[in-house]
Amino acid sequence: MNIILLGYPGSGKGTQAKVLSQKLNMFHVSTGDIFREELAKKTQLGQEVAGYLNAGRLVPDKLVLEVLKSRLGAETRGLLFDGFPRTVEQAEGLDSWFMSRGQAIDAVVFLNVTEEEVARRLGARRTCTGCGRIYNTISAPPAKENVCDACGKPLMVRDDDKPAVIERRLQVYRDQTEPLLAYYRASGSFYEADGSQSPEAVAEKVSALLRKP
Ligand code: AP5
Ligand code: MG
Repeated sequence: MNIILLGYPGSGKGTQAKVLSQKLNMFHVSTGDIFREELAKKTQLGQEVAGYLNAGRLVPDKLVLEVLKSRLGAETRGLLFDGFPRTVEQAEGLDSWFMSRGQAIDAVVFLNVTEEEVARRLGARRTCTGCGRIYNTISAPPAKENVCDACGKPLMVRDDDKPAVIERRLQVYRDQTEPLLAYYRASGSFYEADGSQSPEAVAEKVSALLRKP
């Protein structure tokens, strides 16, 4: 099964993808995580994408597609995309890549959350520097302040979770990613989940949608 999670920055794509990929034994593909890892390792790719990430702008489609194809070629598990595709051009690129492999997208799940709520969530997000687990100082705090419950490493604030960059990311979503809703609605495998409920309730809802014949 190949699944795409769509939604605003902060809608809970990463939170849900971590749970679902474990539960369904799928490969979690987060282009944002890939770029942040490259940035942290100061690789050539990391340097190429740094300016885009820090400004809240999209990395060019051609580069995103190249990186993905080179990383996914040998993967045999089902793919769970989080943060990709983000433009109609990326969606078309993904369609032709799947077609060339005799595969298809089985479900596109849109996590529907208001812009006010995502802005609130992003301002309170903390991410583990060790295992990448996602926290929220309001809705999902760690047991001990700024320390990961799972691996004990310190938590950090993402560079693009500053107010001015959050605003830019929301604008970029409206302009460049929202058109994907119409693109996938027309595909017949589009589902919508109310992403404003608790992470557990959203996970249950998404699992139920995916069980549908
Ligand atoms: P990326 O890393 O993909 O970021 P994003 O899409 O902006 O989404 P986020 O990771 O911010 O949010 P999320 O939906 O994963 O929410 P989360 O689960 O963390 O991209 C970053 C950058 O990389 C882009 O700006 C761009 O520059 C570049 N990039 C990446 N992919 C690209 C592509 N395909 N093309 C071009 N450029 C690309 O949750 C957020 C917070 O809410 C957390 O604190 C969490 O604990 C909390 N939360 C989650 N669910 C709930 C809930 N149900 N109730 C209450 N709180 C919740
Ligand atoms: Mg994410």
